[in-house]
Amino acid sequence: MSTKDKEMMNWDADHLMHWVMPVGMNAGVMIDRAQGVSFYDTTGKEYLDGASQLVCVSLGYKYNEEIAAAAAEQLKKLPFFMNFWGFTTPTSIECGQRLSKILPQGIDHFCFTNGGSESTELAFQFARAYWKNKGTNKHKIISLYNSYHGVMYGSITATGLSKGLFSSAFTPLVPGFIKAPSYYCHRCMLGLKYPECGVECAKQVEKIIQLEGPHTIAALIAEPVHGTAGHIPPPPEYWPMVRDICTRNNVLLIADEVMTGFGRTGKAFGVDNWGVKPDMMTLAKGISSTYVPFGAVAMNEMVYDGLKNSVFAGATFSANPLSAAISNKVLEIYERDKIFENAAKMGDYAMERIKKQFLPLPHVGEVSGIGLMIGIEIVENKETGKGFDPASNMMHVIQDKALEKGLFVRVSDESWSSANRISFCPPLTVTREEIDRMLDILYPIVSEIK
Ligand SMILES: Cc1ncc(COP(=O)(O)O)c(C=O)c1O
Repeated sequence: MSTKDKEMMNWDADHLMHWVMPVGMNAGVMIDRAQGVSFYDTTGKEYLDGASQLVCVSLGYKYNEEIAAAAAEQLKKLPFFMNFWGFTTPTSIECGQRLSKILPQGIDHFCFTNGGSESTELAFQFARAYWKNKGTNKHKIISLYNSYHGVMYGSITATGLSKGLFSSAFTPLVPGFIKAPSYYCHRCMLGLKYPECGVECAKQVEKIIQLEGPHTIAALIAEPVHGTAGHIPPPPEYWPMVRDICTRNNVLLIADEVMTGFGRTGKAFGVDNWGVKPDMMTLAKGISSTYVPFGAVAMNEMVYDGLKNSVFAGATFSANPLSAAISNKVLEIYERDKIFENAAKMGDYAMERIKKQFLPLPHVGEVSGIGLMIGIEIVENKETGKGFDPASNMMHVIQDKALEKGLFVRVSDESWSSANRISFCPPLTVTREEIDRMLDILYPIVSEIK
């Protein structure tokens, strides 16, 4: 690293905060550019992106030129316009229309946001407002253990992992939030075995609603597949069961599709894997392939109708034409270049290789996932399933070794999650050859765990 780069890194540590890193520290890696499915640091070193960064750069970096052209065109024509007081733009209307075509039928009303946390936060406000408008006191939000919903007060309160780590610095959190069991079968928190359990985790949602009183519950929010906890899909009955439970108990169902949306699971949206239609869906990340901050709360006619004549305060950047124009281009590319189909095919390919090659290893406890969202569980003892003590820092050792060899992967560990898992989730544009290059780096690291 050059002297100038070292000086910049020191300034960074002294002045810039980094998430999930103690304040005052940085990782010692300064990223300069990205191309294909790789990013490069300022020394020119290449890193294959085996995690799509935060499971968000869905197109990878293969379309930079085309997106830049769409951005330039919009910036020259109308760089910004607010969405307040009924003003609108053709780009935001086009974006809503494009989304309507790929979301489950009937989910075609939108509030645009600047990211996932804002989407979940607003979905809670809309759920409460919906029931208030009906003259009820339904206000409680149910979410699941092992879920991640964002960093703002409501979204972090709904989040069901981190063992307090993500929020202990600024508690107390928000009242009116309740947790239901996670659908993580391999480490079932109810101590049951699928399928003999009859999907008791879904049934528990109904028991919780009954015990709290259905007249107090506004909504259930869940990720179609647990994302941040390490890519953990539910049993196939789970989503149809909770849809039915919510309908029968007059509870709004919110699918948090921030990570699973836009082809990540091999289908357009996570809930499409089970043919379920939620009442609201929270969107971000893949909506713009994170070329710009953007997101949305999508809702059905029933919810939109129930919110009619309510007034909400808005954020300056909501529905800004630049983000919408980029999203339109990204949505066009998804369709034109059959990106979701590629995610399904490449997901099958990666899963087959990982199950065949990694699962037999002495320290791999489980492999599960869907589409290009694959989790590899690392255990200390394969027979008992005991994980490495977080104090051993095993997951970060794996992550650092991979980074040193030119591969970026995400990891979760038992200091804040339910299990030690490597998340393998490359961009949806990845090829077989690129998957092989990534797994060729990861395999020796996992096989050499002592
Ligand atoms: C399911 C889910 N919801 C919400 C969020 C928060 O999104 P953002 O980081 O854009 O605020 C995330 C981020 O990872 C997520 O995975």
